[in-house]
Amino acid sequence: MTSGMNNLKRTHYCGEINHVSEGTGVTLFGWVQRRRDLGGLIFIDIRDRTGIAQVVCNPEDQPKAHAVAHTLRPEYCIAVTGALARRPEEMRNPAMATGDVELIAHDVEVFNEAMTPPFVIEDGADINDTLRLKYRYLDLRRPSLQRNIILRHKAAQCIRRYYDAHGFLEVETPVLAKSTPEGARDYLVPSRIFPGKFYALPQSPQLFKQLLMVAGFDRYYQIVKCFRDEDLRADRQPEFTQIDIEMSFLTMDEVLTINEGAIATLFKETIGVDLPQPFTRMSYETAMAEYGNDRPDTRFGMKLVDVSDIAATSEFRVFTQAVAEGGAVKAIAVKAPHNLSRKDLDSLQTAIADYGAKGVLWARLDEDGWKSTLTKFFKEGQWAGIALRLGMAAGDVALFIADKKGVVNASLSALRLHLAERLKLVSDGSFSALWVTDFPLLERSEEQGRLVSVHHPFTAPAPEDLDLLDTDPAKVRSQAYDMVINGNEVGGGSIRIHTQDIQQKVFKVIGLTEEQARVKFGYLLEALRYGAPPHGGIAFGLDRLIMLLAGTASIRDVIAFPKTQKAFCTMTEAPSDVDPVQLTELGLKRIEGRQ
Ligand code: AMO
Repeated sequence: MTSGMNNLKRTHYCGEINHVSEGTGVTLFGWVQRRRDLGGLIFIDIRDRTGIAQVVCNPEDQPKAHAVAHTLRPEYCIAVTGALARRPEEMRNPAMATGDVELIAHDVEVFNEAMTPPFVIEDGADINDTLRLKYRYLDLRRPSLQRNIILRHKAAQCIRRYYDAHGFLEVETPVLAKSTPEGARDYLVPSRIFPGKFYALPQSPQLFKQLLMVAGFDRYYQIVKCFRDEDLRADRQPEFTQIDIEMSFLTMDEVLTINEGAIATLFKETIGVDLPQPFTRMSYETAMAEYGNDRPDTRFGMKLVDVSDIAATSEFRVFTQAVAEGGAVKAIAVKAPHNLSRKDLDSLQTAIADYGAKGVLWARLDEDGWKSTLTKFFKEGQWAGIALRLGMAAGDVALFIADKKGVVNASLSALRLHLAERLKLVSDGSFSALWVTDFPLLERSEEQGRLVSVHHPFTAPAPEDLDLLDTDPAKVRSQAYDMVINGNEVGGGSIRIHTQDIQQKVFKVIGLTEEQARVKFGYLLEALRYGAPPHGGIAFGLDRLIMLLAGTASIRDVIAFPKTQKAFCTMTEAPSDVDPVQLTELGLKRIEGRQ
């Protein structure tokens, strides 16, 4: 027999009862985690979002409750009313937050029965991902996912409190919008009223927030959904959430200080971690030189060291040729003790197979000299130079890659991360936050055969490089910055261009004609002519931040209803077919033969 709420009122959540005094009347609502029939007594573990409580049903004292308890199966939704009791000493369970107590049931009611779930609802069970996503509402009952979603809620509250206390106003911006370039494809929404025309879902609220500065709101924030049709990875979803920030009349230093304060507060308030402030700042150039990428994981050393000059004078053709062709030879040192056998060293190539390097060469510095296939190609003095530069001592191994500069950086950077994981160089729960600054404003896109913005085209050039915009635009540095935590880009932003002439110049440098700039961004160019204030901002990836706070490997674990790698919702089966009438209304026609 199932029931509605009748006169039932919850007195406590399951996870709260450890400190309730003996004999107190308690009503719990929740789901059956498991039922154990021990001869006469029946034990039920009841679960809600706060935890699990043990309920005992005694056939002699409460035959009716016992009879209902006997019918319970996993995931039945129930109410239990009873009296709180301390468990006998030998029955206490220190592994359980409510392990000192139990509820002696007087009454058990079933709100709803449940079919046998497609998987066991508990942490640690090995369950197929597709099944999990199809029954996400069941997967979400697992304590770890509940914890992540609750953590996400707390984080969002903390962020709101912080920015509110610093004078920021939360303002909503449109979702049916016009394309803003952030480097991905747009999701388009066809217009019924303007057949053949489309809205774009925002890749970010970038231009709206800038216009809010023009409008005089001074400090804006928003926790906002953004949409990007791009290749998905563990840290990317097609719709994700930004903590979006914009502020007027501040220097870049001030913008960085306020925003790193938000992240430091977030880490402190949610997981009790102190991120030392001010955050380290590292130029893009240093990040690329020493870590091989622009989101360095600074929790461990093993920096990349350029040995091109020494390698160029060696007898080893692969090295001399790479340098002669404008490439580089770089190395990292793996410190002893490291347990890397000769065979391990020979197989490192497979760890970087995706990055294009033709090989990794190794050289081990033993007490009696270098052991390597390279030994004979370098003179002793050259080896000494390499050892000095890499800070090597006996037992350490140097790993070399020679290739085009981009390939060397990407491969050694991946090798560095691979070794850190393999050699456990990073202790669990350690965090390292930094700013990467001084990005180039533009980079050459081989695909498009032109210069493109490294961030977005609204990013201000460094004032001292302004003249280069006309003469050597590829050399111009920007006032952009990324926040990086443990090798993840958690946020990115910049001081913006706030005058129309410079904005127009940047559009021109990235190949937009005046007409194209007017059609795409006419409203911005116009707004910049009405007293736009100096302004700048940042957007943090909320999902990525929660992933770090929760210590999970994928942002899917911190999103209630995520999509698959193919941007598919396994539960609702979106995207899906639509009624042909809807297509006709929108003036759309499916091209036959296209899947
Ligand atoms: P950007 O494109 O760097 O900047 O995005 C800001 C942050 O958003 C997160 N992010 C993502 N998270 C999950 N899935 C995705 N597909 C995804 N794409 C980005 C990252 C990233 O650092 N308008 C600018 C910000 C500004 O200039 O103020 C912007 O969107 O953590």
